[in-house]
Amino acid sequence: MQAQVGDIRMHWREVGAGDVVLFVHGFPFDSGMWAEQLDRIPRRFRLIAPDLRGFGSSTRGEAPVSMDRFADDLVGLLDHLGIDRTVVCGLSMGGYVAFALWRRHPDRIRALVLCATRAGADTEEARRARFELAGRVREGGSRVAADEQVPRLLSERTFRDRPEVADRVREMIESTDRATIVAALEAMAARPDSTPLLAGISVPTLVVAGGDDRVVKAEEMRRMADAIPEARFQTIPEAGHLPPLECPAEFNLALVHFLEAIQGH
Ligand code: MLT
Repeated sequence: MQAQVGDIRMHWREVGAGDVVLFVHGFPFDSGMWAEQLDRIPRRFRLIAPDLRGFGSSTRGEAPVSMDRFADDLVGLLDHLGIDRTVVCGLSMGGYVAFALWRRHPDRIRALVLCATRAGADTEEARRARFELAGRVREGGSRVAADEQVPRLLSERTFRDRPEVADRVREMIESTDRATIVAALEAMAARPDSTPLLAGISVPTLVVAGGDDRVVKAEEMRRMADAIPEARFQTIPEAGHLPPLECPAEFNLALVHFLEAIQGH
């Protein structure tokens, strides 16, 4: 589906009816990363997976990209759909956007699912690496990002037993416009530290870590969960950085359990 949301034409996938879950994709992916959730989670939930500006089939618009901008776009979509409050499920960069949503629009959030993400800002070293990668992507295109990212994103077990997942992830990255990749790298480098927010998160929260995640270690995510008053923490042992794609059955079970537990909340 598509609609004009502020200065962009926003595309999203949607199935089901009932309590709403808004899925926010990571970098540099698109709403397609949630295919196994939209296909397999019972239709008694309304599942909405947008493409953030510039990604997938959404246009990039004129406004500079930032985590705040992404968050405001999502609220624009909720307004367009007449949705007051939603569960927000963000993976990695989608988690950074979820924190921006919490900072700017907490009244729109019923519950949070934070997957393979971190609250902290980039270190100086991480920032330098992002600018360096942005330079190489500007020159060489999205393929450069795919070459660098794919080997870090998936668990050893996924590479061994489900190589088709690696192919899908590579395809998603290579189909992302290089200017969007560069803009998102700069936006992530500029994001603020969300650690001070954690103690004030007053909605039910599920934190999901991949046991073999090399980008954000499960231990770091456990510490993040410990800092959120209402959080439960779950590790999916055989997943890397992308549990919803690598271990969809386990991820969906954890998510549906959580959604059932918070019904009426
Ligand atoms: C993601 O999966 O969204 C990225 O790993 C986020 C990041 O580079 O910090």
